[in-house]
Amino acid sequence: MKPIVIGNWKMHLTPSEARVFLRDFMANPEVFERADVTLCPAAPVIPVVADALRGTAVHWGGQNAHWEAQGAFTGETSMAMLADLGCTLVLCGHSERRRFAHETDADIARKVEQTLAHGMIPVLCVGETYEQRRQQQQDVVVIEQVRKGVNLLSAFPSLALYVAYEPVWAIGTGQTIEPADATAMARLIRSTLREVLPTGADSIPIIYGGSVTPLNVSSFVDGDAISGVLVGGSSLNPVAFHQLIAQLV
Ligand code: PGA
Repeated sequence: MKPIVIGNWKMHLTPSEARVFLRDFMANPEVFERADVTLCPAAPVIPVVADALRGTAVHWGGQNAHWEAQGAFTGETSMAMLADLGCTLVLCGHSERRRFAHETDADIARKVEQTLAHGMIPVLCVGETYEQRRQQQQDVVVIEQVRKGVNLLSAFPSLALYVAYEPVWAIGTGQTIEPADATAMARLIRSTLREVLPTGADSIPIIYGGSVTPLNVSSFVDGDAISGVLVGGSSLNPVAFHQLIAQLV
């Protein structure tokens, strides 16, 4: 399987900045044939990214969408809108949305379900805070987030789903987890998926996120427990992000 690399641009890069990014990023496209790369721009930037990437090996996705099909939800984006723009995946339950938008595990389960229902891949994001790890609660917290996040999937015959393990204290801080601890958590996530899903748990890729850089990326992706990375800060610079991907292929 090709390594998975997802760039989460968060609330960075305007449409004009994205055009400049893409010109530099796509200058040497060979590397994209050997990795499964997806860019997740802010919603208003998706059409620009889609236009530039259509026909290339690089995909694009959404950072978030609402679970309702449509309606009076000012400021929200629907799954159908993302699907219509050609998005292949949607981040569900990123820790910043859990914190700033007060998303609950029940909300996130609906987003995961609706992403699949719209033919896109949900990337269920889970991870403990610093305080939870300090109190050695990380396993309990992550097991609970995984169990609840996949709660509504029994009707789906095949699960094109990713799980991203992102310790909250490692996101945007430059602090990274020991690769062995990330691997241990990925194994715990796998065994939780096996318990709660009737079939298909073994084919769900588990990826790592949290201060991943071109220098440390290879230590996280072992081709066994961890199949790829979710990258924030290092995905904003086209040269650095290209280098990061090149480390894995
Ligand atoms: P970071 O963000 O790479 O800047 O730590 C990762 C993420 O939030 O997905």
